[in-house]
Amino acid sequence: MNFRILPSLLAADPGRLAEEIVRARDSGADALHIDIMDPHFVPNISYGPDIVVLARRVAPGFHRNVHLMMSRPDLFVEKFAAAGAQTIQIHAEAECGVGETLDAIRRLGVRRGLVVNPETPVEAIFPHLGEIDEALVMTVHPGYGGQKFIEACLPKIERLRERAPGLDIMIDGGANRETIVLAAKAGADMFVAGSHLFGKADMAAEIGELRRRLEAL
Ligand code: DX5
Ligand code: ZN
Repeated sequence: MNFRILPSLLAADPGRLAEEIVRARDSGADALHIDIMDPHFVPNISYGPDIVVLARRVAPGFHRNVHLMMSRPDLFVEKFAAAGAQTIQIHAEAECGVGETLDAIRRLGVRRGLVVNPETPVEAIFPHLGEIDEALVMTVHPGYGGQKFIEACLPKIERLRERAPGLDIMIDGGANRETIVLAAKAGADMFVAGSHLFGKADMAAEIGELRRRLEAL
């Protein structure tokens, strides 16, 4: 299995974002996870498209995985693609045509991801399996970093893996040395980690440790 690890920029030092992006890249991460929030969809606000422009400027070769926690992602996919998003993830709970928005992302030449919140059945992804490049099963309620991994989400990963053996399946929220192993056993192969990685002085050593644990499975 080709396991991939994506640091979540939300947990980076906000006073040193450019350096933190470079630190994540130089630590051997596979891509940068960039959380975009609107306060209708989640109880928080984060960045706009300019953060993606910054990531492209300081680390052009480091894949930009953009997670749109937005009620109307359809109004923003073009802006994020123009800013340099290479994957755009939208939520199944969004208030727009999910199939149409995924198609708009494809036409922009960007990889497509579909996300389900903890309370949303993973079956909401099934009708869109032919329209996505990856799926994201949230393992916390979106809006904040540093929350506890919800183990009740693991059976959702199992059901999705059974239904889509070749799909890239990501988890996001509460990832650490123990929970990534649980998620990988359930069938995930991509792991977003925010506070766990940015909180480490030596991020490269921690990514190495996570890879060792995953590869030992
Ligand atoms: C939650 C975000 C996550 C968050 C994860 O709303 O989508 O990407 O940054 O943070 P940790 O890994 O600290 O739970
Ligand atoms: Zn995220």
